[in-house]
Amino acid sequence: MIVEGIRLINFRNYKNIFVSFSSDVNILVGKNAQGKTNILEAIYMCSNGRSFRTYRDKEIISFDKDEAYIGANIKVGQLEKFTEIKLHNDKPKRIRVNKSELSNNRELNTGFKVVIFSPDDLKLIKEGPSNRRNYLDNCISQLKPLYGYNLNKYYKVLIQRNNALKSIRLKGDIDSLLDVFDIQLANLGSLIITERRAMIDKLNKESKEIHSSLTKGNESISLYYGTNTPLFKSLKEIENGFLDKLKATRKTDLINRTTEVGPHRDDLLIYINDKESKLFASQGQQRSLVLTLKLSEVEIIKKDIGVYPVLLLDDVFSELDEDRRLYLSKLFNNMQTFITITDAVDIKGLENHNIEYFYVKEGLIFRGKKTWREVNDQ
Ligand SMILES: Nc1ncnc2c1ncn2[C@@H]1O[C@H](COP(=O)(O)OP(=O)(O)OP(=O)(O)O)[C@@H](O)[C@H]1O
Ligand SMILES: [Mg+2]
Repeated sequence: MIVEGIRLINFRNYKNIFVSFSSDVNILVGKNAQGKTNILEAIYMCSNGRSFRTYRDKEIISFDKDEAYIGANIKVGQLEKFTEIKLHNDKPKRIRVNKSELSNNRELNTGFKVVIFSPDDLKLIKEGPSNRRNYLDNCISQLKPLYGYNLNKYYKVLIQRNNALKSIRLKGDIDSLLDVFDIQLANLGSLIITERRAMIDKLNKESKEIHSSLTKGNESISLYYGTNTPLFKSLKEIENGFLDKLKATRKTDLINRTTEVGPHRDDLLIYINDKESKLFASQGQQRSLVLTLKLSEVEIIKKDIGVYPVLLLDDVFSELDEDRRLYLSKLFNNMQTFITITDAVDIKGLENHNIEYFYVKEGLIFRGKKTWREVNDQ
């Protein structure tokens, strides 16, 4: 998978630029707030239809403009996918691939895939379960767009159920209403639980070796699904078990006015050397764990569709120690990679690669040959 080039118009601090990229390692160098992450964001959007930084498209459109445009020449295997996204201030975005309009973001996911590792991902280990659920959900929906659709539907029903629990007016006939929501939740929820557990099985397989290599055999990683629904095997059993649990907790749900059990409360439990990482992982261990999780995602995508995704490393490469950089840089042989850094000297571990530099300054990009000093002097 390769992003050959990208045009951005009124996209954050880019007025109108076109850049072509190398199929190997692309390093975006620049001081803070110059537009490095904005490039990764644009590439990410071509895979997911939305940003990894915001749900509000308005924030992405340049401050004084009404529209923004991304046009990317993307190659998926032998297929060319000219992907265009038009963002509007006052109406929903439009996405086209090879000039044909897509009806929703999910259709994008059937082709181009990226894996991003940004400083925000460090929240994955220590912060609340929603971070880990999002990681898991993202891994799955990259490969199964229908999963994202079911997840949305689940959350819609959940909101309706919670609203009903909160509504005092409904007191009389609330039980029959909750019966309906419970059946829907159990039906959709069992699909979500099943997919999440299948993904955790895959992640367990991939992550063991990666994490052991990254930590020179010092740490072993194990992942579990933390759930308050019964962990049966078959889909039907999970559905019935979840339904029973919803019935059993209805009384307390009515008192607390919220739904206590279900995949919206579940967690991905990450253990190293049989201890829960959430409770004790050091900064360095957190970084390695997230790297392991991201690289496992990369390998799962490769196994599933036969092609490596594009790897986006925002501000994290320079934070890794030399061993980990070397480990990572071996993988770059297989993947187009984008790395953002603030200091051009800070790139040890990439000596064997064909690197293309992009100097980023105030929404302008200078490819390759120039030295950092030349760019700064302009
Ligand atoms: N909607 C917008 N319109 C115009 N400019 C924007 C918009 N959103 C963000 N910016 C500008 O983009 C710049 C930040 O870009 P970006 O996040 O890519 O920086 P960066 O080079 O990655 O910096 P850092 O090294 O600090 O991460 C800031 O100057 C910010 O003001
Ligand atoms: Mg940045």
